[in-house]
Amino acid sequence: MRKVLILGANGQIARHAIELFLQNTDAELTLYLRNPRRLGNIDPNRVRIIEGDVLNIETLIDAMTGQDVVYANLAGDLERMAKTIVEAMGRAELKRLLFISSMGIYDEVPGQTYRSILDPYRNSAGVVEASDLDYTILRPAWFTHKDEIDYETTQKGEPFKGGIVSCKSVADLVVKLAETPGMEVRRSLGVNKPE
Ligand SMILES: NC(=O)c1ccc[n+]([C@@H]2O[C@H](COP(=O)([O-])OP(=O)(O)OC[C@H]3O[C@@H](n4cnc5c(N)ncnc54)[C@H](OP(=O)(O)O)[C@@H]3O)[C@@H](O)[C@H]2O)c1
Repeated sequence: MRKVLILGANGQIARHAIELFLQNTDAELTLYLRNPRRLGNIDPNRVRIIEGDVLNIETLIDAMTGQDVVYANLAGDLERMAKTIVEAMGRAELKRLLFISSMGIYDEVPGQTYRSILDPYRNSAGVVEASDLDYTILRPAWFTHKDEIDYETTQKGEPFKGGIVSCKSVADLVVKLAETPGMEVRRSLGVNKPE
């Protein structure tokens, strides 16, 4: 049984991932978020909830104790968050990190040039890649809210494919990565709906 810590558990992808974890796996979930009241009607018997800010390293290290996988589903000052997570994982002696980023951070999308709005995504990915963690970075395309699981991945260094992907698809990949030791370790994956 995998123990998974979800940082930013009220995020869109995280909410889908929580549903898929609870439906399809026996993973033990710890949901880490700033405002637990926003979670609504998640079964309290299946999850542990920790109120906290990712930038608070002591609370973060406490939450990491005994976990197998850390899944970061965050937005905002991502570079600072990535530095805090990497340091906390080192101190908690954890290795496996799933980190949601964005398409475009390596200027890999055909026909599009890199825009500075992606700096937090690029810089945070750089922090994660420079760490000694067993990371997988996900670079999703633009989200759709379709109730479908339909995606393919590209590796770092390959051109990005497509332009959209459903939130549920990204969540499905998160669950597979969390449940499968060694899958796509130290890789950065583009995630898109096949055209
Ligand atoms: N929209 C797209 O098409 C698209 C495409 C590719 C990538 N992305 C990126 O993919 C990532 C995941 O997307 P999403 O839609 O699932 O994200 P989201 O719904 O925006 O959720 C991000 C979460 O981060 C949490 N957060 C921010 N700062 C925090 C802190 N200091 N401590 C703890 N939690 C904090 C927020 O918590 P609160 O609820 O407390 O604010 C929020 O729940 C985002 O960075 C997004 O920009 C988006």
